[in-house]
Amino acid sequence: MDNQASVVVENVSKSFEQGGDIFHVLKNVHFKAYPSELIMIVGPSGSGKTTLLSTIAGTLRADSGNIHLFDFPLHEKAQREITAFRRSTIGFIFQQFHLIPTLTCGENAAIPLLLNGWPRNKALEEAAKSLEEVGLSSKFTSLPKNLSGGQQQRVAIARALIHKPKLIICDEPTSALDADSGTKIMELICSHVTALGRVVIVVTHDSRIFKYANRIVKMDDGKITNSEGTHAT
Ligand SMILES: Nc1ncnc2c1ncn2[C@@H]1O[C@H](COP(=O)(O)OP(=O)(O)O)[C@@H](O)[C@H]1O
Ligand SMILES: [Mg+2]
Repeated sequence: MDNQASVVVENVSKSFEQGGDIFHVLKNVHFKAYPSELIMIVGPSGSGKTTLLSTIAGTLRADSGNIHLFDFPLHEKAQREITAFRRSTIGFIFQQFHLIPTLTCGENAAIPLLLNGWPRNKALEEAAKSLEEVGLSSKFTSLPKNLSGGQQQRVAIARALIHKPKLIICDEPTSALDADSGTKIMELICSHVTALGRVVIVVTHDSRIFKYANRIVKMDDGKITNSEGTHAT
């Protein structure tokens, strides 16, 4: 295994069965990410990008192959250990924001800390700082429905970063946004990444944001077909 890489995916395969047919969605995928890299995974709809992210995040178990995240061998671990590891180490940003509509923006941002057992008042104090970092202090007590799409995604970024995760996984983070909001989201993600040696993996269709990638990995029909650019080491 490559000791310099933060994320190592080796020979990972995943199939789904549906109506008696087997669909091979990931076919011996190899993939690595290095400290301070922002990697984009691009490819047609249905090519397996979200499935790959889910296996890296450990929310979906690969059928075969190895996945190491910062030396944590995901493929060898029980689900309970994986969940604990994910809560401390990974932050998520999704296309549709996935904010909880009945919670305030402050409470939404605090969720990862609450899941990690922080007392509510401390978690909310930290959420206030996290919202400030994304320029949304004034929305602490607002409900998500009263914010624009771009603002909701900034709350999702505050939530994704609040527990200082080493790996940030983004699935189509700008697809639901206009160009200006998408740019702002990518600027925010980039500014919180590289200085701290974090790794960001962004799945996207959105060619407007390709310029933010250190490396672009192409996926087609369950395989990585090429990798452009060089990693930082
Ligand atoms: N839980 C599942 N059960 C059955 N098929 C699935 C499941 N999840 C994804 N698939 C199928 O796997 C393929 C790849 O899906 P996905 O990883 O979501 O692709 P992408 O994110 O590149 O659009 C699709 O054909 C999809 O229908
Ligand atoms: Mg997808």
